[in-house]
Amino acid sequence: MCQASRVNRTMGSGGGGGRGAEVVGAVSRLLRRSIAHRGVVGTAGFILELAFNRRFWRRAFGKDGTAEFDANFGIDTRASLLQTEIQDIVNPNWIHGALYTPTPVERFREMLAALPIRHQEFTFIDFGSGKGRVLLLASELPFRAIIGLELSQNLHQVTLRNLASYHSETQACKKIDCLLMDAILYDVPLEPSVCYFFNPFQEPVMAQVVRRLEASLEAAPRPMFILYYTPLFQHLFATSKYFREFRATEYYAIYQSTEGGLSPDSFVPEPGVRERLSPSR
Ligand SMILES: C[S@@+](CC[C@H](N)C(=O)[O-])C[C@H]1O[C@@H](n2cnc3c(N)ncnc32)[C@H](O)[C@@H]1O
Repeated sequence: MCQASRVNRTMGSGGGGGRGAEVVGAVSRLLRRSIAHRGVVGTAGFILELAFNRRFWRRAFGKDGTAEFDANFGIDTRASLLQTEIQDIVNPNWIHGALYTPTPVERFREMLAALPIRHQEFTFIDFGSGKGRVLLLASELPFRAIIGLELSQNLHQVTLRNLASYHSETQACKKIDCLLMDAILYDVPLEPSVCYFFNPFQEPVMAQVVRRLEASLEAAPRPMFILYYTPLFQHLFATSKYFREFRATEYYAIYQSTEGGLSPDSFVPEPGVRERLSPSR
């Protein structure tokens, strides 16, 4: 089901120097690479911005249903520095990539419930799928297929394990593919799709991904929804002639292709969707 991949390093193996040494090693590699690309001043600014970004910390470590979700299904989708470190990425786009921070479980369910679609007709694609949390949450709805794209081999490997461990009686989509690849190179299927973004990359890469989506819509006009959590670069969709806004809230925005065809007023959720996304799961 999922693309197999070579692993050149086992996560959390504990290795020679123990966990402390691994953390120090991970941090110093991240720093060296950041300084090489952002410079010393740029790196200092980046760290300061992160340190004072309360939303980031709340998202990463706040109570959001994550502990229950992971425990209920015997999976691991938490943020973690060791598994987040991107030394395994030999791709020039890594510098534009975000560290792994998962979407809060309850927030994602709320966003899914707002999608005005018949799930059977749509493929769900997570651009920068991390450990696969949203792939699994989305699989509780009867999407036609679910696809995750991830650049880090470490995170991809965790996703494979999570997909194998996840057993839910109510799982409605079992056609889940996770691809170890640069999302910038991905051609979305020529069918109705929901493209999910939780700020996987900085603007230069995001702009290229949006252009690719636009070219795909130009070649094959069809319903496409963009589900964008903490939409830092939403102007890329807001100013595009291929998309129009469906909904914008404090936390997320939904855009639909101009061929998408639904007005927010005419949207009635499919029966059963809210039950399937109930927090008790
Ligand atoms: C903020 S996390 C979001 C994870 C997941 N989508 C979620 O919401 O739980 C962003 C993810 O994008 C990945 N990423 C960054 N650049 C990428 C690229 N060019 N192609 C694919 N994945 C990328 C990172 O490794 C990270 O796992």
